[in-house]
Amino acid sequence: MFITFEGIDGCGKSTQARRLVEFLLREKGNGKALWTREPGGWTGSGNLRELILSQEFEHPWTEVFLFLADRCEHAKKIIEPALQEGVIVICERFDDSSRAYQVWGRGIELEKIERALALAEYPRPDRTILLDVSVETAMGRVLARANLDRYEKEGKSFLERVIEGYRFLAAREKSRIRPVNGEGKPDEVFARILDSLEGCF
Ligand code: TYD
Repeated sequence: MFITFEGIDGCGKSTQARRLVEFLLREKGNGKALWTREPGGWTGSGNLRELILSQEFEHPWTEVFLFLADRCEHAKKIIEPALQEGVIVICERFDDSSRAYQVWGRGIELEKIERALALAEYPRPDRTILLDVSVETAMGRVLARANLDRYEKEGKSFLERVIEGYRFLAAREKSRIRPVNGEGKPDEVFARILDSLEGCF
């Protein structure tokens, strides 16, 4: 089972993804679930993550290919081996981030991004939890952080477009992408996530 968490910056993905992994490790046993994230979920990816998050690129496709390169290596080194051993993989951000951010955020055509994603061979998520929060909630959380990356500095209208993208994707692929209300206390949100994953494990 390959589960991804998606949503705008500050939606609570990290908190909830870690909770889910802890829950699964308790329920299924040690080693039966794995937490990872993009960009930069593999050993040696530090420089690539740093490059992606700190640089401003002139050409809109530069970041697409960097995210995709990161994803390919992440898939080969971490995700595929774990899935082959029957481990449940929980990943913060995956290919829907490329759709929502690069299409709705940056303005590349969806159909072109789909073609680029289809070229790269990597496991497709079985389920995706889309943590849906208002831009106000998300920005309040992000601005409380110390060091903002270049995406987190983009501001309100960028995040509004990205949320709109995620909602479009969820409506397009209802069986895989499950929107979960991310507003409220972490315990409440986690209970909604478990409900939405009923029957998966
Ligand atoms: P990161 O800081 O790790 O995530 P978060 O702020 O949610 O903890 O993610 C870096 C940024 O990269 C995030 O703002 C979304 C963006 N991103 C893309 O634009 N395309 C992608 O394919 C991926 C994986 C991330």
